[in-house]
Amino acid sequence: MTADSAIPRHVAVIMDGNGRWAQQRGQPRGAGHRAGVKATREIVENCARAGVGYLTLFAFSSENWQRPASEVGLLMDLFMRALGKEVADLDKNKVRVRFVGDHTAFSDALQREMRKAEVTTASNDGLQLYIAVGYGGHADITQAVRALAEQVEAGALKASHIDEAAIAGRLLMAGVPPPDLFIRTGGEQRISNFLLWDLAYSELYFCDTLWPDFDKVGLDAALRWYAGRQRRFGRVLDEAS
Ligand code: IPE
Ligand code: IPE
Ligand code: MG
Repeated sequence: MTADSAIPRHVAVIMDGNGRWAQQRGQPRGAGHRAGVKATREIVENCARAGVGYLTLFAFSSENWQRPASEVGLLMDLFMRALGKEVADLDKNKVRVRFVGDHTAFSDALQREMRKAEVTTASNDGLQLYIAVGYGGHADITQAVRALAEQVEAGALKASHIDEAAIAGRLLMAGVPPPDLFIRTGGEQRISNFLLWDLAYSELYFCDTLWPDFDKVGLDAALRWYAGRQRRFGRVLDEAS
């Protein structure tokens, strides 16, 4: 038996390798981030075309704050500009955009722009695009557990009623089916604190392509690989099925 459906319902991507892409060309890392914007636009278009329902893109991790201030500043600037430029097209293509992560350290202007993108696209029923910025898997689970603990403290919830569904229901991706296919570009084979809870049974695909070079051909290769996977979720599959 191959993957339940040939097309993953939810694809989650660590868009990695911008810095190395630039370094290979003797350019500053920022040039790689700039080049990565095009690959980001393309994967959104190509996932929508392929019939993927949900796409989650890891754009900035809670740990990426530890990068030099100049690189962080440039990334924030790029988000701001990309949002300003892309939202009209996303909206036209029926893409709904949402941001997950801790955004409190972002500038007010950027937070406003993010909110505007969410509001503008709120009624779109095409590709559901989640952008993980200021996101960390540990922080996500921590805030979920804290929210439940507060309910217990207030007497609104019994500790014995905290089950997996209660935790999942408090995560930032609550209500979204977990990723079927995880893709990481850039050659590293690690999760880097992305969706720790949600990735429990995702098919993990790693490729060496650096993010700015990841195009339709790369996505199609990942989708083909996914279609050939056998997902067991811990069960033994009937030989005949
Ligand atoms: C991914 O590319 C983009 C972000 C983390 C914001 P990197 O900047 O991590 O590029 P490499 O991994 O250093 O090549
Ligand atoms: C993960 O990439 C975060 C994003 C792509 C946004 P990193 O480049 O930050 O991860 P590490 O440092 O290689 O683990
Ligand atoms: Mg990296």
